Amino acid sequence: MTDDTAGLRRIDLCAADEVAPGAMKLCDVDGELVLVTNLAGRFNAAQGICSHEYFELDRGMLTGDSILCTLHMSRFSLIDGEVIDPPAELPLAIYPVVVENGRILIEVPAGALEVNR
Ligand code: FES
Repeated sequence: MTDDTAGLRRIDLCAADEVAPGAMKLCDVDGELVLVTNLAGRFNAAQGICSHEYFELDRGMLTGDSILCTLHMSRFSLIDGEVIDPPAELPLAIYPVVVENGRILIEVPAGALEVNR
């Protein structure tokens, strides 16, 4: 579901109970993948493909508030997307999350979803 209001898009990703604490899930948004994580009960959303090369980050390892891309071992903060460990240089795009009626949504500017690659 997509709702265009005042230049923002609210995009429904999945049910909150589909992502248990410590788990992650890839969701498709207009052909782009978004990684939803549950960090000790707090939901975050980031671009689902590594900014270094093409690798689906749900195949990585969630540790604390960061994700390790297991292809070349870059680590990213899931709070602000910044690179913690190289070789990646570009941060992950992070999307503001809203939880409403048991659903996880992101609220992003209208238009194409921001992705760093
Ligand atoms: S593809 Fe993720 S670190 Fe290279």
